[in-house]
Amino acid sequence: MSGDKVLFDQVSKTFDARTGRRTPGGAVTALDRLTLGVRPGEFLVVVGPSGCGKSTLLDLAGGLSRATAGQVLVNGRPVTGPGLDRGIVFQQYALLPWRTAAGNVAFGLEAKGVPRADRADLVAQHLDLVGLGAFAGHYPHQLSGGMKQRVAIARSLAYDPDILLMDEPFAALDAQTRDSLQDELVRIWERTGKTIIFITHAIDEAVYLGRRVAVMTSRPGRIKQVIDVELGDLDAAEDVRSSDAFRHHRHQIWTLLRDEVRAAQAAERPTLRRQEAPVG
Ligand SMILES: Nc1ncnc2c1ncn2[C@@H]1O[C@H](COP(=O)(O)OP(=O)(O)OP(=O)(O)O)[C@@H](O)[C@H]1O
Ligand SMILES: [Mg+2]
Repeated sequence: MSGDKVLFDQVSKTFDARTGRRTPGGAVTALDRLTLGVRPGEFLVVVGPSGCGKSTLLDLAGGLSRATAGQVLVNGRPVTGPGLDRGIVFQQYALLPWRTAAGNVAFGLEAKGVPRADRADLVAQHLDLVGLGAFAGHYPHQLSGGMKQRVAIARSLAYDPDILLMDEPFAALDAQTRDSLQDELVRIWERTGKTIIFITHAIDEAVYLGRRVAVMTSRPGRIKQVIDVELGDLDAAEDVRSSDAFRHHRHQIWTLLRDEVRAAQAAERPTLRRQEAPVG
């Protein structure tokens, strides 16, 4: 669709796999003619089995790698590299250890050329936004995992990218921290209207965050189905996660993923037998 903020248009990505176990000397096809449109201002979650190509997809949107075939369009223009219109949050806290929380948030602002006088305000504002106003002077090693991830989120929001690309940003966190960061992220999204592409393999997280959830096939990754998540009024609900609507979507996605994992296992079996034959 021409109105898409981000469009993955028949995107394939093949890796030269000297390390690939299943196809020695051959190539690994991570994505195979994947097509997905992301609407302006939407919160889209991508789920898929491990190794199906989720990170590959996000890296392409971030301009960190290039498609083997097809193209990724942002605002209708092909992505040719990283840009300040797209902020990336990785699973591992990619903070600069020699900079304080404030210094890390300032980093993107410096890259963007924001004048020094305006930087301090923006840094303070964004540390407040993620609840870390009191920790501006702390270094990464003085912060918990959840706090580091908040700094990473504040950093990617501060320079005001249109699009946030998030690759399992909460996967390494404990359940409570994860829940509270999910709530913060939804609030930030509602307040800023940014387009968010969020990757996870946690089904609950997908249903809770995504207004649409794209379910990928096992590798080579394609989009199996895109689900509209309708949970009703989140603020009114006592416990959204135990509502009927939530359970319905959780089951729907779980079923789609289970079928994919089964298909992948079935595809693996003949290879295993061949490999085992000489031994047995
Ligand atoms: N740089 C690379 N070189 C070779 N193969 C790669 C490279 N990056 C990814 N792959 C392969 O591409 C496939 C998809 O990898 P990717 O990291 O995108 O999966 P994923 O869905 O993010 O998995 P996970 O859920 O475990 O994070 C995998 O088979 C992986 O081994
Ligand atoms: Mg990944």
